[in-house]
Amino acid sequence: MSRTSSYSVDPARLEGVVREPLFAAVAAEAAKQDIPAFAIGGYVRDRLIGRPCKDVDFVVEGDGIAFARSVAKRLGAGEVHVFKNFGTAMFIYADEQVEFVGARKESYNRNSRKPEVEPGSIKDDQERRDFTINALAVSMNPGSLGALVDPFGGIMDLDRGLIRTPLDPDITFSDDPLRMLRAVRFANQLGFVIDPLTFDAIKRNAKRLEIISAERIHTELNKIILTRKPSVGFILLRDAGLLQEFFPEFVELSGAEEKHGIGHKDNFYHTLQVLDNVCEKSDDLWLRWGAILHDIAKPRTKRFEPGHGWTFHGHEDKGARMVPGIFRRLKLPLDEQMKFVQKLVALHLRPIALTKVEVTDSAIRRLLFDAGDDIDALMILCRADITSKNEKKKERYLRNYEVVMEKLKEVEAKDQVRNFQPPITGEDIMRAFNIPPCKLIGDIKTVIKDAILDGRIQNDRAQAWELMVEEGSKLGLKMEPGSGAISSK
Ligand code: CTP
Repeated sequence: MSRTSSYSVDPARLEGVVREPLFAAVAAEAAKQDIPAFAIGGYVRDRLIGRPCKDVDFVVEGDGIAFARSVAKRLGAGEVHVFKNFGTAMFIYADEQVEFVGARKESYNRNSRKPEVEPGSIKDDQERRDFTINALAVSMNPGSLGALVDPFGGIMDLDRGLIRTPLDPDITFSDDPLRMLRAVRFANQLGFVIDPLTFDAIKRNAKRLEIISAERIHTELNKIILTRKPSVGFILLRDAGLLQEFFPEFVELSGAEEKHGIGHKDNFYHTLQVLDNVCEKSDDLWLRWGAILHDIAKPRTKRFEPGHGWTFHGHEDKGARMVPGIFRRLKLPLDEQMKFVQKLVALHLRPIALTKVEVTDSAIRRLLFDAGDDIDALMILCRADITSKNEKKKERYLRNYEVVMEKLKEVEAKDQVRNFQPPITGEDIMRAFNIPPCKLIGDIKTVIKDAILDGRIQNDRAQAWELMVEEGSKLGLKMEPGSGAISSK
């Protein structure tokens, strides 16, 4: 198998470990109490490949909680938090989260509710972990201090860039089906390949995801989305049959239908291309979600119109309406983040549509008004959405996009509608005409806003006041004596 990993494995990176105060304290306690102790898991993996690593996990062949207390005492570390159900203890030392657990025979699953009690050896513990690269341990014990403990070929897998389970993958995944998503996440994050036998087992067990909570699923999914090239993860998720289990709308984007010799693009791959493009410009998780969902309603709005070909009319509005349901099911936040994603989906066609007609200031003002402070994010998405394979077309779109960008800057500098604050408030209108709160106030405000956005009047209090007076009289309202003056704000 060819290496795909961009990391190089260097066991020398472990050499200094035992001289660091935390590890030295663990080693001293292990020697004093004659209890075998090991650093294990992600810390060891990341250190070996030179990735930044923070939190450290230790396994001891004995009482992990008591051991954690004595190490914390030796280090003068703060409070030890004990999670009795999981048999783990944690404290913070030098900004790192340090966790201890007693080695056990049962599966290592911090999310399982049943207490894991049967003590075991380090090897028992390692074989019940998810992947060989996450089962690597470093001895903290006299005689083997600093030596790698690797009974399942983790270092070899790390070197060749392979995600593989230590045990029969059917067992590893039935212990905790979330591990199937973790396999994809690690493959995506590290640029590794999933071992074919492990991947086959994922396909066989994909349905078991149904017992996993939406929170745990979205946590892994978001980690995939936050990688440098999430398309890799999404393709693996779909091919493994996992994506269908929690995000069927995305899978529905797959495929390119053809009728009378006319096809349309495969919106699954198009969406992923847009997502990767966005990722080159922004780390914002929710902007990335905007990319994921921008065309989500295409399958549901798709029509073949003789004479025209394929159309997806209204997919932006329908898509925006689909966002809350998808967020709710995945238990993603339903507040500003969701509204931001909805806005991106609803508006994603607007900037490019502007390039198809002579761009008027008024259309630009409307876009600025509707997008508000999210205009920059929207423009990143729109730029990313230009994926045409036809170079000429692509160039033309990109040129048009630049024109819109320029216009946006110009109009915003002149009119400041991005954070539009009405120059005449509802209060002003009530006082001017001496009327109580009622629908007329909203109507007058809308007329003023439209006049500003259309460029009929400037975004200025004096002109807005004049229009208010005019509109009021059309509606039969009488000015309150003495309120005719234009008070400055
Ligand atoms: N682990 C496991 N099965 C899980 C979750 C975790 O076997 N479902 C084990 C792995 O050995 C893993 C360790 O617990 O290395 C720590 O888990 P976690 O902190 O979630 O993962 P890391 O490997 O540290 O990676 P990251 O911090 O990137 O999530």
